[in-house]
Amino acid sequence: MTDSLATLQSRRTIRRYKDEPLSRETLEKILLAAQCAQSWNNSQCWELVLIDDPEIRKKLQETVPSQNPAFRAIVESSTLVCVCAKTRLAGFFGNDPGSILGDWFMHDVGIVTQNICTQAHALGLGTVVVAWLDHAAAKTVIQLPEGYELVSLIPLGYPEQEARATPRKKVNDFVHKNRFGAKYADH
Ligand SMILES: Cc1cc2nc3c(=O)[nH]c(=O)nc-3n(C[C@H](O)[C@H](O)[C@H](O)COP(=O)(O)O)c2cc1C
Repeated sequence: MTDSLATLQSRRTIRRYKDEPLSRETLEKILLAAQCAQSWNNSQCWELVLIDDPEIRKKLQETVPSQNPAFRAIVESSTLVCVCAKTRLAGFFGNDPGSILGDWFMHDVGIVTQNICTQAHALGLGTVVVAWLDHAAAKTVIQLPEGYELVSLIPLGYPEQEARATPRKKVNDFVHKNRFGAKYADH
């Protein structure tokens, strides 16, 4: 059994990459990790668009504000994954929402995203989730049809430098026991 906690704890967002291509085999393992994500009623609403065409990358970069710390990563990574979703699938039974929370595509795409980033890290690759962008413009660039949303871009590449750990809340600051506000560690 591999130590998944150690993998999760050592992952860092990586925004600078070596000029090194990704093998087909490595990419395949990342896509298999995406494939095994859990989802609402196994609806698997995700669609991934892999971008290697430099011109399309440039156009996608134009949808990202230049102040975004991941601006360069869009064109400098080894490959770029556009994470998209079919809407009105996750969270629904047919046309009927299964909960008051509406469409669950952001949730299920988030799980796919985490699988991609975790598997990439386990293979020695770095990723950054890029969501601060003009989504409408990015949808046009990749010719996404009606009924789908583009959620994020994930550049993938071998890390150029070590990244520092970002702070996290203490477990006791977000885990409650039996009722909201009763601290987990007090029990
Ligand atoms: C939904 C989401 C959107 C994000 N959008 C961006 C972004 O547009 N640009 C960027 O540089 N980083 C972005 N990030 C990366 C976060 O800033 C990063 O995950 C966070 O600071 C924690 O750092 P860590 O991933 O190294 O633990 C995003 C992360 C998530 C999960």
